[in-house]
Amino acid sequence: MIHNDKLEQFHERLASENLGPLWASIHSLNTIEPKARPIPYLWKKEHIRRNLEEAEHLLEVGNGADRRAVFLINPGMKDLKPHGWGGATHTLYAAIQAVKPGEVAPAHRHTTTALRFIMQGEGGKGRVNGGEEEFEPGDYLITPTWTWHDHTNQGNETVLWMDCLDTPFTLYMNVCFTEFYPQKQQQLLVPNNYGSRRYQGGMTRPISDRNPSLAPLTRYKWGLTKTGLDGLSELDPDPYDGHAIEYINPSTGKDANDRIGARMQLLPPNFQGKAHRHVHSNVYHVFKGSGYTVMNGVKFDWSEGDFFVVPPWTWHEHVNASDGEQCYLFSTNDLPLMEAFNFEKLETYLENDGHQDINDVFQPIL
Ligand SMILES: [Fe+2]
Ligand SMILES: [Fe+2]
Repeated sequence: MIHNDKLEQFHERLASENLGPLWASIHSLNTIEPKARPIPYLWKKEHIRRNLEEAEHLLEVGNGADRRAVFLINPGMKDLKPHGWGGATHTLYAAIQAVKPGEVAPAHRHTTTALRFIMQGEGGKGRVNGGEEEFEPGDYLITPTWTWHDHTNQGNETVLWMDCLDTPFTLYMNVCFTEFYPQKQQQLLVPNNYGSRRYQGGMTRPISDRNPSLAPLTRYKWGLTKTGLDGLSELDPDPYDGHAIEYINPSTGKDANDRIGARMQLLPPNFQGKAHRHVHSNVYHVFKGSGYTVMNGVKFDWSEGDFFVVPPWTWHEHVNASDGEQCYLFSTNDLPLMEAFNFEKLETYLENDGHQDINDVFQPIL
């Protein structure tokens, strides 16, 4: 292409008139492969907890704060307004929420779709669409788009959970609505643990659900998740993800939450995962165990309670370095969105028997 001062001036004038020259822009608009905005990153448990404890002293839930949650901001998205779009990745928001004994996180609903993974504490209860379910560590809960939800802690210790929403995606799409319920808690419309009772058989569906619904089951008990993984672990692990399961909507067989996927994976002792990369992104929470993940040649060491993100098209491999202890990794993903638009692609790392060279070790904020 011919470069001269006149052409440069022309480009500047076009920009000042809210126009753009395609001949000079096409390669950054149609990239050869994805240029992810979020970067590979890890947040340590101690770092997040220290800040959440400070918020516990400063805020009372239901009295000045609707939710006491500290969210992860990916450094690659920090400059986006507002608040880095609440992006752990370009599509997924993730936070750690604390509810102290006696507190009520008031009822509301929003277009963003949400899910929770209970990390710590007994006595938590949540209401979703007129039903109430108690929860304990390891349980997975969903509040899909536009469902009323509120939470309480009726135990004696602080309850902590991970929230994940598709906030950056709904912000980008300009589609976010929110509505507040007139009372602190929503009215109960069905018996307690309604969904869990209706689906407790696991392999059976009430005949009235032959026509699928959005959230026939809102709570997935840790005990059942573990049973699923125990069965898988009697077989050979997947070379990339170990023994991994997805939470599904039992009336459709698709993802439990229609816009955010969620998985639990078990890495057996000494598991050395091979590397792959994919278009969908992940937010990981280390539920149990310790190990490391290599992303684009950088080693990210993790232990129980930590969070890390795998951005789009990032080589990654997971390792459980312990020879006696199992690792359980909970993760969320935007695979339902990527599949809905036919964006998903997967590539496996072929060199060096599927393992990346480690060039650097990530230093987290402590
Ligand atoms: Fe909410
Ligand atoms: Fe992966």
